Amino acid sequence: MNAKKDAKQTFTLTDNRSGQKYELPVVSGSMGPDVIDVRRLYNDTNCFTYDPGFTSTGSCGSKITYIDGDNGVLLYRGYPVDQLADNSDFPEVCYLLLYGELPTPDQKKKFEHDITYHTMLNEQLTYFFRGFRRDAHPMAVMCGVVGALSAFYHDSTDISDPKHRMIASYRLIAKMPTIAAMAYKFSMGQPFQYPLNDLTFAENFLHMMFGTPCEEYKVSPVLSKAIDRILILHADHEQNASTSTVRLAGSSGANPFACISAGIASLWGPAHGGANEAVLNMLEEIGDAKNIPEYVDRAKKKDDPFRLMGFGHRVYKNFDPRAKVMEKICHEVLNDLKIEDEPLLDIAVELERIALEDDYFIEKKLYPNVDFYSGIIFKALGIPTSLFTVLFAVARTVGWVAQWNEMIEDPSQKIGRPRQLYIGETARKFKPLHKRI
Ligand code: CMC
Repeated sequence: MNAKKDAKQTFTLTDNRSGQKYELPVVSGSMGPDVIDVRRLYNDTNCFTYDPGFTSTGSCGSKITYIDGDNGVLLYRGYPVDQLADNSDFPEVCYLLLYGELPTPDQKKKFEHDITYHTMLNEQLTYFFRGFRRDAHPMAVMCGVVGALSAFYHDSTDISDPKHRMIASYRLIAKMPTIAAMAYKFSMGQPFQYPLNDLTFAENFLHMMFGTPCEEYKVSPVLSKAIDRILILHADHEQNASTSTVRLAGSSGANPFACISAGIASLWGPAHGGANEAVLNMLEEIGDAKNIPEYVDRAKKKDDPFRLMGFGHRVYKNFDPRAKVMEKICHEVLNDLKIEDEPLLDIAVELERIALEDDYFIEKKLYPNVDFYSGIIFKALGIPTSLFTVLFAVARTVGWVAQWNEMIEDPSQKIGRPRQLYIGETARKFKPLHKRI
């Protein structure tokens, strides 16, 4: 961990049971809250820390992404995400996340070329899709096919070799859109579309999704620009559930394809990346603006599991900067596509208004998050609901691989192995079956 460790900065912990005091080092990063280094705590005190959900735990040092949740700040390698979404493009952001700096024109050209020339899948892999049911959820297909990449690309699974790690990273970034589009084509019963090397990353994705061999598919610049910006907004997000899953899986030395497959599984949940799909399902269920108060009331009830999907965030307690850009993109896309009457957007806007004025949401600091608007954009772009989270996975792959590489290069890296507070039975004697009546 490359951070400032000032010998004078310590945190004193008093064990009120014994009166014993312990000095714990305090470590400062380049920005954000200090951390108390508790690595010696168990050795010194015979106590663990207890933090279910890791609400107060920093699991690693990282130079990739910075979030200030109180002020709605999100930086990739120091650059604000809204500036990147407005001025950069997704391949450039991939380079930035992987290498730490924006590329020079030559570096950008080479990177784009290298990613483009890894977009094709081993043909044998295409048979995997045929093993799934046509109505399989595309995220289920993604978990399976991405995990299976390790059975094909043996020349990039030696994680101790930086070259192998980078080839695996490029392969994952490049092949994810191909796999995602194939999962869609399979569900539609349409032939797979192979990548085209003269298209950009976003254009290629749209071509593989919506093109058919029957006619030329002209990629709309509006759509490809919107996809590119959405990919940027989702590219990384610090130590969230799926990224922590990738790091934890990777900490045992597992190969990168298996680790990213684990990340996809974690992303799928509705509290995480699955929320974009859940938002659209919720808006459809609400059906009419007049029903909003009923759903807002349900979201506030303790005994009702319903939550307003697309609202709230573990870290953002003011606003989610991604949601701000997403809202802008949403209006641009609907304007560009001349969609004037989008009932779901009307419900979304009204829902946002009502929730933001509601004491419950104000008190708990629950604001629209990135997933609130992304579903409406995806719908307007003609992307089927079940593919929303897949798109999130396509974008987040670069964040996952950047974080995975950083973890492997970190000299303080160890296998991740949390401890627990045991609350089960104390030791007891085995009872033979005939006595258990
Ligand atoms: N609707 C109603 N109440 C909520 C909501 C919501 N969307 N989110 C949080 N709360 C309440 C929650 O019931 C709790 O109340 P209390 O203090 O009375 O127990 C309080 O707010 C704090 O919530 P929490 O669940 O302890 O907070 P968390 O940090 O563990 O969870 C979250 C964060 C994002 C999982 C949660 O806000 C949520 O489930 N939101 C809906 C799903 C969603 O939109 N997820 C996408 C997150 S952004 C994209 C991504 O990271 O993938």
